[in-house]
Amino acid sequence: MKLLDESVVLVGYLIAAVLFILALKGLSSPRKARRANRLGAAGAVVAILVYVLGHDIQNGLWIALAVLVGTAIAVPAARRVQMTQMPQLVAAFNGVGGGAAALVAVVEFTHGPDAWAGTVIAFTVFIGGLSLTGSFVTFGKLQGIITSRAVVFPGLGVLLGLLALASIVTAVVMVATGNLLYAAILLALGLIIGVLFVLPIGGADVPIVISLLNAFTGLAVAGSGIVLSNVLLLIAGTLVGASGTILTMSMATAMGRSVTGIVFGAFRRVGKGGSDAAAIDRPVRTVTAEDVAILLEYSSRIVIVPGYGLAVAQAHHAAAELAEYLTAKGADVVFGIHPVAGRMPGHMNVLLAEANVPYESLVEMDVVNGQFKSTDLVLVIGANDVVNPAAKSSPGSPIYGMPILNVSEAKQVIFLKRSLNPGFAGIENELFYDPKVSIALGDAKATLSQLLTAVKATA
Ligand code: TAP
Repeated sequence: MKLLDESVVLVGYLIAAVLFILALKGLSSPRKARRANRLGAAGAVVAILVYVLGHDIQNGLWIALAVLVGTAIAVPAARRVQMTQMPQLVAAFNGVGGGAAALVAVVEFTHGPDAWAGTVIAFTVFIGGLSLTGSFVTFGKLQGIITSRAVVFPGLGVLLGLLALASIVTAVVMVATGNLLYAAILLALGLIIGVLFVLPIGGADVPIVISLLNAFTGLAVAGSGIVLSNVLLLIAGTLVGASGTILTMSMATAMGRSVTGIVFGAFRRVGKGGSDAAAIDRPVRTVTAEDVAILLEYSSRIVIVPGYGLAVAQAHHAAAELAEYLTAKGADVVFGIHPVAGRMPGHMNVLLAEANVPYESLVEMDVVNGQFKSTDLVLVIGANDVVNPAAKSSPGSPIYGMPILNVSEAKQVIFLKRSLNPGFAGIENELFYDPKVSIALGDAKATLSQLLTAVKATA
């Protein structure tokens, strides 16, 4: 039974759309992000309520059951997820979104659409399927279930080209005949292409592919909106598609890459051998927390460079405490923030804000790069790729072209990490062997806690 009038439904949709836009705007600032998240969630609740109350809903019990199952899985997953696993969660949620859009389109195809609606349905089925499997392969790569390296084999490019061609032909036949079998084949092709599309993307590019697939899911959802004549789905899908595209572009820019280079780069590298440098047995200087405490004592300008390892070790509070203590003792201490440090945009900003580091102590890459020459000591905490000079000096390297923090320009550099293992991109860091670089081996939180004790003891 319809409880709401058509005009009330439209006003409800408008309110939901405004809430979505305000949420996206707020999410760009760490200060407003929590509130923005709530606004977005409120928009989704308004949208669902208005839709359910404004339509003569059939299969209400099934819908309620689906909502219950989805909630029972998603709420504990979102609550339990570690900050470091957030990109995986986004990938999984994105995948099911794409899958849902594809299924809605398949069901709609059984209602005998005209040529225009059939074309949109074919597009939604294909993109939604691609997004589903692509997102789950990305999830597997980020979770370490499958290798995060680029997986390529000879002929992959040709195979993908043939599958793309087969998809176009299937879509044309599907629209022309109205036969459900072709919709199923197109869905299967989308699912296969999703896997083959993401497998060759590896290393540091994997998190970027999530936002690219996010953009794809947005397009699929917008397609569902057209198919179902639902203006809100169209708006929401377009917003997701546009924001995913903008995020993809800005992450690619921050890494000094082009989006096509990320997607098709691995094909060009087939047969050219791995890009990972072999681990070579060379001496490195190791130091203890006590040694670092003495070096800090003699440093008046200090830059702390946080990276993914800071998040893994949950060492942000200890890093903030150290910075506060050294500042109180008269040192000039700032945090140098690389735009893609960690595994998601703003990762370091969010962590350090949580540890109450003042915003003015967070210095962006472009600014801090101009300050390293006058810096006495750089403390690199759990960062690697974002300071790896291979980005400037090794044209074959997967991070070649990515702007880095030029820490080697400082007088001394100390890494806090557990081993000489590489970072996410899987390439060795020449900096470890630089004479002005030392490494304090160990978990970042444990080392920082010893460091704090030692620094306070030297006071
Ligand atoms: P990474 O290069 O991944 O290096 C992190 C380092 O942390 C590792 O070398 C690891 O060394 C260390 N580590 C791990 N656990 C630790 C612990 N408990 N204590 C101390 N150290 C620990 O990180 P990064 O420098 O932040 O670079 C980020 C990477 O992600 C880049 O390649 C970037 O391109 C990529 N990426 C990021 C984004 C966004 S938006 N952030 C998007 C796309 C790609 P050990 O194992 O030796 O400890």
